[in-house]
Amino acid sequence: MRSQVRRRVMAGNWKMYKTQAETRDFFPVFLPLILDATHCDVVIAPPFTSIAAAVQATEGSRVAIAGQNNHWQKEGAFTGEVSSQMLVAVGCTYVIVGHSERRQYSGETDGMVAQKSRAALECGLTPIVCLGENFTERETGRTQEILSQQFIGGPGSLTPEEFSRILLAYEPVWAIGTGRTATPDIAAAAHRFLRQCVQDQFSAEAAASVRILYGGSVKPDNSQGLMAQQELDGALVGGASLDAKSFAAIVNCK
Ligand code: PGA
Repeated sequence: MRSQVRRRVMAGNWKMYKTQAETRDFFPVFLPLILDATHCDVVIAPPFTSIAAAVQATEGSRVAIAGQNNHWQKEGAFTGEVSSQMLVAVGCTYVIVGHSERRQYSGETDGMVAQKSRAALECGLTPIVCLGENFTERETGRTQEILSQQFIGGPGSLTPEEFSRILLAYEPVWAIGTGRTATPDIAAAAHRFLRQCVQDQFSAEAAASVRILYGGSVKPDNSQGLMAQQELDGALVGGASLDAKSFAAIVNCK
């Protein structure tokens, strides 16, 4: 199903790490290391409080900045939340939606994932929509059922036009932060299945062009093998994106 070349995206998810000062220290080391990585788009998602510092530090570079979450409303009485419009105003061009940690700890549902994706798209942000099964679901043979359910209730409920502007990230929960990366074959099989879901819901063309990133313990020493899989259009990297040299090594892998 690879009828066209899909440009690779390498994204770093800093989660709840890095103050503004640490963010300012990261980029002068990172940016010179990725000057030759013109084969991919590079995105970093700092915590909200460090976004402005990241935007400033990456001005004029090829690195785009993402929010790690957005609310589906433009504004309102939603204590602790940040809207897509606010992310755009501070300089973000992407936002991560439906990360498993938000599903797990903040009760995010597939319906919320769809609403947040729509809100992001309305103001021009590119949502990176995450989905993936947990350990028990994989062990009990329910991976496809869960992926299909998360897909249909979330990104699969967008219009074809909306869907054409999002990225998907397959992130098996059992591989996140555990050091237990999916093998390249396991990851590729899940990506193929997701592409089939896209084809069933939208079209063969949508399936061939949607970019699907893999996330879950991607490190410099396993990124080469993962990226060698045609099905993988990039990576969403947590822990290894916190260190400039290690994230640069992942970005630079061809
Ligand atoms: P990890 O996180 O690379 O630390 O496993 C990936 C993610 O949660 O996006």
